[in-house]
Amino acid sequence: MAGNNPTHDDSANRAVPFAQANAATRVMLIASGKGGVGKSSVTTNLAVALAARGRDVAVIDADVWGFSIPRMLGVDQPPTVIDDMLIPPEAHGVRCISMGFFADEDQPVIWRGPMLHKALEQFLTDVAWNEPDYLLVDLPPGTGDVAISLAGFLPTAEMYVVTTPQPVAQTVAQRAAFMADKVNLKVHGVIENMSWFTGDDGTRYELFGSGGGGELAERIGAPLIGSVPLVPALREGGDTGRPVAVDAESEAGAVFAEMARVVDVDLRPTTRRHRELRIL
Ligand SMILES: Nc1ncnc2c1ncn2[C@@H]1O[C@H](COP(=O)(O)OP(=O)(O)OP(=O)(O)O)[C@@H](O)[C@H]1O
Ligand SMILES: [Mg+2]
Repeated sequence: MAGNNPTHDDSANRAVPFAQANAATRVMLIASGKGGVGKSSVTTNLAVALAARGRDVAVIDADVWGFSIPRMLGVDQPPTVIDDMLIPPEAHGVRCISMGFFADEDQPVIWRGPMLHKALEQFLTDVAWNEPDYLLVDLPPGTGDVAISLAGFLPTAEMYVVTTPQPVAQTVAQRAAFMADKVNLKVHGVIENMSWFTGDDGTRYELFGSGGGGELAERIGAPLIGSVPLVPALREGGDTGRPVAVDAESEAGAVFAEMARVVDVDLRPTTRRHRELRIL
């Protein structure tokens, strides 16, 4: 059936550029043990902060059901097509692709497994990414098919887990570790979100408890790379398409700038990356 459609055939033959040995792009999968913890907000703002460091940054919104990246990033035009490749739109120095460009926001998208796998592959192969320095991938909540498909396509990806500050229930840590295990990827870092709220008097209120990020990091043996405060501007920026990271002097913007530095400098791979050699 696919043979009747030349475009389909073309894409089937293209290799995933990020999976090539010695591919220069660092791929970061942003995941969480549960929904609504701020994955998409963190993905958007970390991408903008990396771009502000002069890096070439791309984002794939892999939440094909609950896509939110175009709105959060403030992208206002769809991709264009040149020679059957998609040219991703850009905002704040970040290029992105999302199912939001192809689906009607009011209609639920229903995916059958093979279609979902194919759509994710096309996000990787049919977009003219041109080897960015970073490719951030915003995963949907949960530990489902999307993560498994993507990890298969992106064997060198680094996984980052977003969590909230309440003391970690054993299950959240287990779920994050289980997910990384299932997709055969290493967790490179933990990001705590909604860590505190600063009142008008400068007092920090830990509305959702404290220590959860550090505890999760310890349990899964990865560093805590940043703690993001709860700031109304972050939600507003997400709704209006002006990410807080654009203002690196703001309370949350400064945190994202520092987190981008940690990723870019402290966590920079020391050797050129290549596929792991396995002795069978
Ligand atoms: N640090 C923060 N300060 C203020 N609001 C925040 C913060 N982090 C996230 N939010 C808000 O919380 C809501 C959920 O965040 P977001 O959509 O990023 O989470 P998510 O983990 O991607 O959710 P889902 O699991 O549904 O994909 C959004 O309205 C967002 O603006
Ligand atoms: Mg999300």
